[in-house]
Amino acid sequence: MPDPTYGARHIAIIMDGNGRWAKRKHLPRALGHKKGVEAVRNIVRVAGKMGIEAMTLYAFSSENWNRPDEEISDLMGLLRQYIQSDIEEFVENGIRLKVIGNYKALDDDIVGMIDNAIERTAANDKMTLAVALNYGAQDELLRATQEIAAAVKNGRLDPEEIETGHISAALDTADLPPLDLLIRTSGELRLSNFLLWQAAYSELYFTDVLWPDFDQKELEKALKSFGDRERRFGGR
Ligand code: FPP
Repeated sequence: MPDPTYGARHIAIIMDGNGRWAKRKHLPRALGHKKGVEAVRNIVRVAGKMGIEAMTLYAFSSENWNRPDEEISDLMGLLRQYIQSDIEEFVENGIRLKVIGNYKALDDDIVGMIDNAIERTAANDKMTLAVALNYGAQDELLRATQEIAAAVKNGRLDPEEIETGHISAALDTADLPPLDLLIRTSGELRLSNFLLWQAAYSELYFTDVLWPDFDQKELEKALKSFGDRERRFGGR
């Protein structure tokens, strides 16, 4: 059987289209997000079985605070439920949970749940599930820049010696494999402030499928497309 991952070690997904999915079915937006969580649960299982090393999911961006209070509260409620209901499965299936973004700004109880789940799954090594929460790539790069500037200020690093590796190492994704494939659902052709540095040489895959409908078959299609491409990393 061919490798179902086609050699992709790290996949990231901009999970878009929950609202449109609900609208098409004349359902409340909240139900679209609920269905979106079911799609998350399924795709995490599928990716783990395929042998993907890391999956990064854009669950809540630093710009999502601009949504109505009720929707933010629905999304936070779903996040609480997801962590509570799936933590045992992560422990059993060797999934390490990681969060990228400034998640400490979320409600205290969610921060506690996340820290507990991170601690309980820290030694797992089958797949890393990195959930982006209150994440924005520009904010991540800003925090990395501050860290590097502090190292320069206290004499640990010479400005002339700064390399791209220092920047990668200061990002939230420092311990993840290079990003191979970035998927965005629902037909939008934007990166929306997601993994801007990490996507430098990633393959991009856009599909019209709305996130709640993104299943194993759709992930297989994306990976097949990845497998068919010739990656040159700037060479020829
Ligand atoms: C986009 O749909 C989706 C989001 C706002 C983030 C994705 C969130 C989830 C899948 C649920 C929470 C996740 C976890 C891990 C518990 P949209 O509302 O922008 O859709 P639209 O563009 O069609 O309106």
